[in-house]
Order: sequence, then structure tokens, then C-alpha cells
Amino acid sequence: MGAGKSTVGIRVAEAAARPFVDVDGLIEQRHGPIPALFEQGEPEFRRIEEETLAEVLAGPDSVIALGGGAVLSPLSRERLRARAFTVYLDVDVETAWERVRRSDRPLAQREDDFRRLYESRQAAYAEAADAVARGIEDVLLASLGIHFGGVSPPAGPVEVVADTNVLELHPPPVDAPIHRVPPGEDAKTLAVVEELWTALSLGRNGTIIAFGGGSTTDVAGFVAASYLRGIDWVAVPTTLTGQVDAAIGGKTGINTADGKNLAGAFHFPEQVAIDPGVLATLPEQERRAGTAEVVKTGLLAGEEPWSLPEEEMIRACAAYKASVVLSDPHETEGRRAWLNLGHTFAHALEAGSGYRVSHGEAVALGLLAALRLSGQSTDVVEELLRPEPVVADLDAAWAALKRDKKGEGVFVLLEAPGKPVVTTVPDADARAALAALVRQ
Ligand SMILES: NC(=O)c1ccc[n+]([C@@H]2O[C@H](COP(=O)([O-])OP(=O)(O)OC[C@H]3O[C@@H](n4cnc5c(N)ncnc54)[C@H](O)[C@@H]3O)[C@@H](O)[C@H]2O)c1
Ligand SMILES: [Zn+2]
Repeated sequence: MGAGKSTVGIRVAEAAARPFVDVDGLIEQRHGPIPALFEQGEPEFRRIEEETLAEVLAGPDSVIALGGGAVLSPLSRERLRARAFTVYLDVDVETAWERVRRSDRPLAQREDDFRRLYESRQAAYAEAADAVARGIEDVLLASLGIHFGGVSPPAGPVEVVADTNVLELHPPPVDAPIHRVPPGEDAKTLAVVEELWTALSLGRNGTIIAFGGGSTTDVAGFVAASYLRGIDWVAVPTTLTGQVDAAIGGKTGINTADGKNLAGAFHFPEQVAIDPGVLATLPEQERRAGTAEVVKTGLLAGEEPWSLPEEEMIRACAAYKASVVLSDPHETEGRRAWLNLGHTFAHALEAGSGYRVSHGEAVALGLLAALRLSGQSTDVVEELLRPEPVVADLDAAWAALKRDKKGEGVFVLLEAPGKPVVTTVPDADARAALAALVRQ
């Protein structure tokens, strides 16, 4: 009571584009005001509450706000365990009391009773909760298992798949057998996958822990998706790109002779354990690449994560990516496509330069093109990323762009910061925007 479940719940539902259901609200709609129901005795209210929750849990995937006493029912706790991801919205008793003291809630009439109730419910909350959160960002992160700090030890055996560079600079995240993979993009090959399939000695109850940047988490996640038809995995991203983007959202995969990420699977990690401390050793170019994704995220969210301290910046970006992923987990609704802002042009420049232009540099330029086509200010991109036109073969880049778009001419643009749209752009405009990024 007074934790802000309805307020936070509505905002989480909005962010994740899911329906919102307030169980108490639904009960009142159907049975009249809760204080009146309580007058018929608390057991009768709890029975109605149990029934209503069961019905809501059987419905479409939603964000559900529970009444403060709902998890006291062992039956409801069991149903939540089977069907829901349950977050305990933690609030101190003083704040909670301040919020409810003047309400007509039957169990919030006297402060000493309220405090006793708060204390007595803690054990049930702890038992029911899959995660503890203090606000909307926390809830979004927790829903995808993203947390800051070390790896929470998985139940079964674990083995680590690690980028060799990273292992030279940082101790592995857990004490377990280690499989080394080549640094960066070179890890994303079928040969590395085969090696890992053979080298792993985990059973079905095992967990792979990926330790490295997006390349390592992509290949290790794909191995986890395919080894023994799929085992659990944990991502421990060590690049800024990994922590704000690549390790989040369950896309795993490798490159093929025909191009990047052409073989893969959706396979969500059980946890994403983020330690911003490991970024201290990141080479400047990798940090700039990550910053390009941070700027992309800020433009999509209509916020300025880059002006926050580093850990909060990562938290905000990761939470934004989590919200988009939750709204479209397997990329069927189209919202996940937003995350490609600037990337159509970026991929074209990478291909058109024979991959001499780095992804980060290409994304900075791609964002510039997307903002220009959107008629939006490019100031943020110019100030933070200082993109300069690059040497590339314009015809080859254009051909790559058309291939990427599969002839659809569909781009992610911004109506305004925070308002992405998926829309078509006439070929002439798209080609002119691309040409402006290329140094002849
Ligand atoms: N799955 C997704 O949703 C998703 C999203 C974005 C990008 N990606 C993929 O991520 C890959 C790029 O990943 P990335 O940019 O994170 O880098 P990366 O994994 O390719 O690593 C880049 C370089 O940084 C080094 N490195 C990593 N962590 C370090 C550290 N803490 N200190 C010093 N050096 C370190 C690596 O050894 C490597 O040399 C691409 O293959 C891309 O396709 C995937
Ligand atoms: Zn990118």
C-alpha cells in the first residue's frame, strides 16, 4: 500500500506497450468500493481478490498492479509463480504512510496498525517477488534480468565463454572452466560455434556465461540457443555497446559469407550482469562506438542520457532498450525496428567502405542522415560524436542500402526526439542523404 504500484504500473505498461490492469480497480468496477466490501469481512474480499487475479493472469500478457495484501494468499502466490514475473516495489514505511494516511483504505486508518501490517507482510513479499525495484526503470531492467554488479550464481554448473582480450584485462566473472574466443567480430563465425559445441561439457541444466562485448555475447548466446537444443546463458557485457544495447534483448547470432548476423536465434539471457567498472580499459574507439548507441537511444527516448553520470547513463539506456524489447520481444510488431535509427545508412557505409569504416563511426553518420531526413536538429550528434564524411564507394554503399531495405525504402526517422516513426523515403532523397556522408 502506498508503494506507487498503480502509478509505476501504468508507466511500465506504456513503456512496454502492454495492457495495464489494476486488480483493486477491477474489483471496485465489479463489486463496488473496497471499504464497503471490507465491511462484509476481509475473508470475502480476499476470496474475490484471489478469483479476480486468477482471471487476470489467464488473460493477455499485461502489467498487473496487485493490491497490497494479494500475495498473502498462498494460492495467488503459486499462480503468480507459474504465470507472472513479480516485482516487489520497495518503499519505506514512512513514505508509504504519508501517501495513504488520508485515504479511505480500510487497512490504512491508524499509523501504528499500518506499521505493524507493513512489517508483517514483508516475508510474503520476499517470497512472492522475483525482483525488488524502486521505480519504473528498475522494473523494466528487472523484467529482462538486467542488474548492476556481479553474476548471481545460477543453480546448475556453469562454463565461461570469454573474449581473450578481455580475459587479459579482467578476472572472469565466476570461477569456472573458461573457453576463449577471438577478440571482437572474429568470434562470430560458424567455426567458433562448432569449437564451442565440442568443447562445452555442460548438460541441459548448465549455464553459459558470456564475458565480452557484443561479439562475444552474440556468439555465446547463439551457442546457448543451439547447444543441446538450448541451455541457459548469462551475459556479462564488457563494452559500452554491450551494456547499453547488444547484451540486451535476446538476439543472438553469427555472420555468414553473405553478411553480418545472417544466422541466429532469439534466446534471452537469464541475466545481464553489468559492471561499468570494466569499461575503464575500453579503447577510445570502442567507447566512441558505444557513445553513438547512447546518442541513438537518447534521440529515440527523447532524453539526454549522455548528461548523466556513467552508471546512470547506462541504466537509462538499458532500461529504454528493455522497454522496446518488452513491447516487441521477437520483432513481430515492428517497434523493435526503432532501434535501427541511423543503422540503415550505417550498414551501407560499412559495406561501401569494405568494412574499413567502423560501426561506431558509421552510426554517427547514419544518425546525422536520419536527423536531416527528419528535418530535426543535428546539434547533439555533431557535438557528441563529431562525425566526418568517410571514404566509401557510393554506388556500393547505395546497393548495400537497397539490399538492407529489401527494396522497401522503409526508414526509421524522428517526428521529434522521443517520437520515432517507421516511414518511406523517396530513393532520390535517401541517396542524397547517403552521398552527403561520403567523401569523394
Ligand atoms: N544482439 C544484439 O542485439 C546486438 C546489438 C548491437 C550490436 N550487436 C553486435 O555486437 C558486436 C559489436 O560488439 P561491441 O561493439 O560490444 O564490441 P566487440 O565485442 O566486437 O569488441 C570490440 C573490441 O573491444 C575489446 N574489448 C571488449 N571489452 C573490453 C574491455 N572491457 N576492455 C578492453 N577491450 C575490450 C574486444 O576484445 C574487441 O577487440 C557486433 O557484432 C554487432 O553485430 C549485437
Ligand atoms: Zn549499432
